[in-house]
Amino acid sequence: MPYDPAGLQAKFLIDDDLELSNRIVMGPMTRARCDPGTDIPNDLMAQHYTQRATAGLIITEGTQISEQAIGWKDAPSIFRQEHVDAWKKVTSSVHESGGKIFLQLWHLGRQSHSSFHPSTGEIVSASDLPVPSGTARDANGEHVPYEAPRPLTLEEIRTTVQDYANAARKSKEAGFDGVEIHGANGYLVDQFLQTCSNVRTDEYGGSMENRVRFLIEIVEAIIADGAFPASRVGVRLSPNGAYGGMGSSDNDKLFPYVAERLSKYGLAYLHIMDGVGFGVHGLCPLVTCMDMKMAFKGGTIIANVGLTKDVAEGMLRSGAVDLACFGRPYISNPDLVYRFANDLPLNPDAPYEAWWHMKGAEGYNDFPFAELVDEKEAN
Ligand SMILES: Cc1cc2nc3c(=O)[nH]c(=O)nc-3n(C[C@H](O)[C@H](O)[C@H](O)COP(=O)(O)O)c2cc1C
Repeated sequence: MPYDPAGLQAKFLIDDDLELSNRIVMGPMTRARCDPGTDIPNDLMAQHYTQRATAGLIITEGTQISEQAIGWKDAPSIFRQEHVDAWKKVTSSVHESGGKIFLQLWHLGRQSHSSFHPSTGEIVSASDLPVPSGTARDANGEHVPYEAPRPLTLEEIRTTVQDYANAARKSKEAGFDGVEIHGANGYLVDQFLQTCSNVRTDEYGGSMENRVRFLIEIVEAIIADGAFPASRVGVRLSPNGAYGGMGSSDNDKLFPYVAERLSKYGLAYLHIMDGVGFGVHGLCPLVTCMDMKMAFKGGTIIANVGLTKDVAEGMLRSGAVDLACFGRPYISNPDLVYRFANDLPLNPDAPYEAWWHMKGAEGYNDFPFAELVDEKEAN
């Protein structure tokens, strides 16, 4: 993509067939709004994403790619036909409103809990190291201690890689414009990447080359499967983040290396959480979007964490990044694009309880649109 100093409201080409109407991305956010006890997307979720369809690109909440990937109560999945059929309602509604939407492919690895896996009673990861602090939430949503995972065998790694490709194919069938591999926030891909969670001694552990192998195999499996071309596959990474007990002293070397390795595939984008507002491990120098842009050989970079309109405009116009992703501002501002375009104040942040604990539309689909408030006042 040639350097274009345009700002937030400028169009952007992901590839020749996918033009975003602006450079504002709605970040992936798990909101656990499937009907209680299920992993099937519902009408409430279709309404939620449709309300936000003016974003240049929506990235869905983390979506579990297999039985084994599951680990968050009432979060959606994408591996059975009923998931595909239910997601179709979301994608068609977003598309009818002019939006573009990628699905985020998610495997929780060691952040899951055995209660989600009653038949095996175990959770899996790169190694047998549990999340070192904090609590997991079990299948009833109760806080419980993190458990020690079982390292995936080589055979299981092959199956899991294929699970990602199968889920990408199902995402295509469900009408998504592309997929994002969740390689951030201490979930399975990140567990393979970082030394704090990967002490394997086989070809998936040790050197940076070995630790990135799992991610590279997933990327290659999705592309080889062919449901989506490389230009519709993005990867999200969080080199500085502490979420999920993550952080390793060589991340400042590892993550640019990962970007460089990914640069040869012609991917849709690299999505980088480089900001400090979502927890930082501080074990090595910060890795910035600009570091990743250079290592990714100028490919498309989405920046995220703690962005405001002005900071995002500055980053875009500097050429350091191409797209700006907003997470929490999108919880309470479905019309963030309109508010930014018209320099309007944002709604107050949603309370923490609204993130996951409330059910139904409350704290989810009931945030006011500025256009509607304006129209009411004019009448
Ligand atoms: C309620 C909530 C749920 C989240 N769920 C996900 C998720 O499913 N996948 C993911 O990659 N990041 C997730 N995140 C992180 C956000 O995508 C984003 O990186 C974070 O909120 C920082 O961006 P912000 O400062 O614009 O909010 C979540 C954040 C919040 C607040």
